Amino acid sequence: MNATPRKILITSALPYANGPIHIGHLVEYIQTDIWARFQKMRGHQCHYVCADDAHGTPIMLRARQEGIEPEALIARVSEEHQADFAAFRIGFDNYHSTHSEENRELSKTIYERNRDAGHIAKRMITQAYDPVENMFLPDRFIKGTCPKCGAEDQYGDNCEICGASYSPAELKDPVSAVSGAKPEERESDHYFFKLANFEAMLKQWTRAGHLQQEMANKLGEWFESGLQEWDISRDAPYFGFEIPDHPGKFFYVWLDAPIGYMASFKNLCERTEGLAFDDYWQADSDAEVYHFIGKDIVYFHCLFWPAMLEGAGFRKPTAVFAHGFLTVDGQKMSKSRGTFIKARTYLDHLNPEYLRYYFAAKLGAGVDDIDLNLKDFAQRVNSDLVGKVVNIASRCAGFIKKRYDGRLSSHLAEADLFNQFVEAGDSIAERFEKREFSRAVREIMALADRANQYIDEKQPWVIAKQEGKEQELQDICSVGINLFRVLIGYLRPILPATATASEAFLQVKPLLWDDLQNPLIGHQISKFKPLMTRVEEKQIAAMLEHSKEDLKQQATQQSKPKKTATEGHLSNDPIADTIEFGDFAKLDLRIARIVEANHVEGADKLLQLTLDLGGEQRNVFAGIKSAYQPENLVGRLTVMVANLAPRKMRFGVSEGMVLAAGPGGKDLFILNPDEGAEPGMRVK
Ligand code: MSP
Ligand code: ZN
Repeated sequence: MNATPRKILITSALPYANGPIHIGHLVEYIQTDIWARFQKMRGHQCHYVCADDAHGTPIMLRARQEGIEPEALIARVSEEHQADFAAFRIGFDNYHSTHSEENRELSKTIYERNRDAGHIAKRMITQAYDPVENMFLPDRFIKGTCPKCGAEDQYGDNCEICGASYSPAELKDPVSAVSGAKPEERESDHYFFKLANFEAMLKQWTRAGHLQQEMANKLGEWFESGLQEWDISRDAPYFGFEIPDHPGKFFYVWLDAPIGYMASFKNLCERTEGLAFDDYWQADSDAEVYHFIGKDIVYFHCLFWPAMLEGAGFRKPTAVFAHGFLTVDGQKMSKSRGTFIKARTYLDHLNPEYLRYYFAAKLGAGVDDIDLNLKDFAQRVNSDLVGKVVNIASRCAGFIKKRYDGRLSSHLAEADLFNQFVEAGDSIAERFEKREFSRAVREIMALADRANQYIDEKQPWVIAKQEGKEQELQDICSVGINLFRVLIGYLRPILPATATASEAFLQVKPLLWDDLQNPLIGHQISKFKPLMTRVEEKQIAAMLEHSKEDLKQQATQQSKPKKTATEGHLSNDPIADTIEFGDFAKLDLRIARIVEANHVEGADKLLQLTLDLGGEQRNVFAGIKSAYQPENLVGRLTVMVANLAPRKMRFGVSEGMVLAAGPGGKDLFILNPDEGAEPGMRVK
């Protein structure tokens, strides 16, 4: 079928490295993965790459809150993201990071080529500045009173209460969300990408079939309001790439983020024999490049990105496919309803194949939002997958195994029926190709109904009791197994784990689309094991409850530091959801000298410490007995939370908390006396 395999590069948007993957994200990764798996099954040369989006102010501040380097934060989050994706069988061929050498190089190249071609302008701008933290403040990090409706505590760019958008300068009583200080206005040089230089190209490109119609129309509105210059620089401190010829200035995260697609692919090329970066990215490349994205990031992908590529002499994407947003039971994902479900929480309760199937059954080629209706989810999975598809195999496999030693008939009894199934493949393939997954699913399920109907009519369980019908029974069951195989082949892009288990049962190699035309004749299959169990209502309820728990935990962690030494253990638990920098800023961290340390009667983890804060003394109970003898602590320095409300414990009142780091047990480290640290000093 594929005389000349297509060369295809596919990407999903790069998730930010400061939070966990949730089921909203998964709409996109599952959609893309289905398409990539489909292309591979068709025999094309297809590569699916992604990466973490690791730069920007939120990531820098998040790392600071945790007291770690941004590199450590993004390394940990990358591992968590990849574990979640792997569990959902998102089959990336490469998962990289935008904080990589390949990306640094490519960002430099793309910037320099655009600069040399006259597409970069320099201008002085005035911006909010935090005089305490010594940093410029992105709009999101300024809070104040809405100038339109007077609602307090609104972000610097728009009001969540009345929906007004404005500039941070218009905000009343603005404060920095980082330090709480009143922002100042300061000037600084910024670099701008002259998007308007590309207006003609973009007008043409956006209407040349690379985008969905709805997107093209949306972009039309943006052309009408005029293409603005795009600020691509940020001042230090910033976590990102320094602009090559401008020390102290960094590329804005959205400049190097899409270049991360190229960088991830480049990284793949470097370790893949025969895969050449230029074949895919040079201006006249005959390879196809597709970006799957959410509808919120269309502007970046359909205007800035093609313009940057054009300006740097690279090819532009073949197409950008936008999808809508996930709602749960008709509403925005909500933490309080428990419907803000992390990928990990889902995995703790339900089989990922269910969600893949459900999203596929809902996804079309457009940008409509998709709804996860939890009742419908359970019904659909149970009736379609368990009740129809898997059922076909389980109705036939037993007889083949028991009566025929696992061997299928040496001829195909119902060639017409089988051929109907094969012929339906063209239409199903076309649905997949056009990303009309819900239609593909409908057609596949119609075939599943047909297969079950065949078995109902033939009643193998009746034939099995009749004498002299050995051949007939084997024939019927062999037809059933063959129909099942074709169905699993069609469902394979959607249900990779079920397909793999089915391939083991059928004793066949990983199915390719073209294999499906040839039935299994006289073929040996193995023992049937249940391929999928039903979704139980109680699993869904437990998942929602668990998501609410996540929220409660998060709330208590905001009012007190997460695991405390007084509770007897520190851990490497996954980091909880973010707190605002303001919450962190509330902590008064001080150096304290341990002037006295004693065992506590009846406590097996605690020591009683008397801490000197440079004048003031505090009584604190600390769970560090496993690591320290009291006599070894006297005279040492530690960091303490000085403004923790006193807490009445069984042994007395604790007036603060000691911070120690380490896995626990013997390894809990506090500071050594150090010349630079003085009791009472603030820790920054
Ligand atoms: N880092 C940027 C993308 C850079 S691409 C060069 C970003 N990251 S994100 O983590 O916020 O989102 C990643 C993708 O998930 C985006 O395409 C986004 O649209 C999608 N989704 C995030 N939440 C979603 C839903 N609730 N529903 C559907 N898709 C969602 O944007
Ligand atoms: Zn308002």
